[in-house]
Amino acid sequence: MAPSVAEIPTATVDTVTKNVAKLAVSAVPNASLEGKHDDGPSYPYYYPHYDLNEKWEPLEVREFSDPGLRANPAKPNLLNENAKLRHLSPYIGTEIQGVQISQLSKEGLDELALLTAERKVLVFRNQDFKDLGPERQIEIASHFGPIHRHPTSGNVKGFPEFHVVYRDPSHDHFKEYIGGDRINLTSWHSDVSYEKQPPGTTFFFILDQPETGGDTLFASQVEAYSRLSDEFKKRLEGLRVVHSAVRQAEFSRRIGGPVRREPIETEHPIVRVHPVTGEKALYINQGFARRIVGLKQEESDFLLKFLFDHIAKGADFQIRASYEPGTVVVWDNRVTVHSATPDFSPTFRRHAVRLTPQAEVPTAPASP
Ligand SMILES: [Fe+2]
Repeated sequence: MAPSVAEIPTATVDTVTKNVAKLAVSAVPNASLEGKHDDGPSYPYYYPHYDLNEKWEPLEVREFSDPGLRANPAKPNLLNENAKLRHLSPYIGTEIQGVQISQLSKEGLDELALLTAERKVLVFRNQDFKDLGPERQIEIASHFGPIHRHPTSGNVKGFPEFHVVYRDPSHDHFKEYIGGDRINLTSWHSDVSYEKQPPGTTFFFILDQPETGGDTLFASQVEAYSRLSDEFKKRLEGLRVVHSAVRQAEFSRRIGGPVRREPIETEHPIVRVHPVTGEKALYINQGFARRIVGLKQEESDFLLKFLFDHIAKGADFQIRASYEPGTVVVWDNRVTVHSATPDFSPTFRRHAVRLTPQAEVPTAPASP
């Protein structure tokens, strides 16, 4: 889940149909996976598709009401008698067995929005989500808001709602995007936070994963804010931060990828309030936050660096989500940051798809 760096393929898959069952993959470049027989991606339908001629208008601001506001706090439609929950940390993350997202009623989906806001990350095991087909997958995710269409990443032909994350031995631009001669490739971010209405409840389902590695790190921005002193919180009050899509668009242009919408820069409050839980969360991330409005350059750099370091070092308010076949991770992008861990051997394929419903325009807390 690097910021939209699904790889640019050397060929697009024109011949696959909408049948999302496992297909022969003659049109997919056949990567050489060392020491393994490789028939290509398990789900070639979701191989990243790029159309360089695709051009979109700027996004309009739309009304948004979080489905979690309608939810029954007891969550009887989500947490049935088979549901087994295991918290991954006191502050963030819950693994869930025994619940099938595809079977949830509208009330169950409302409750899913609420539980995601409360726990921030949910790791659902043994889901049939990957086999539902694109229309149904989009229908479920649309319950949580209009699906974001990514300006630069690989999508699925005919379905720009899908954000495809793909890496195999032949296609790996991840390192290039993260940049330079770095000791580690951790890259904390909140997805497309430069949008005027950044995403809320977000879905990510795995199609192919390495045997070990490729987890996603998550940090609670609520707890990151909570740890700060009252004096420091006062200093943050009222500050706004510029989030920028420019670097991402420049990278895509440089490697010959699309820029479907011109990159924007948007100011958001440095602390936002979740519309359902009322929790306050830091809303900055190293991936897209560039400067603090009203501060001089060195002041802004200094403050951002402190906050980025604080979040990155907060192992006591972080988790890592691991993947098994059938795993779907649902998280709330408003109150978390995350990072890919590209620690697995390049001889493996990792293939996953994100559906990213947009939420409200971020709101600053009312003054105390
Ligand atoms: Fe991401």
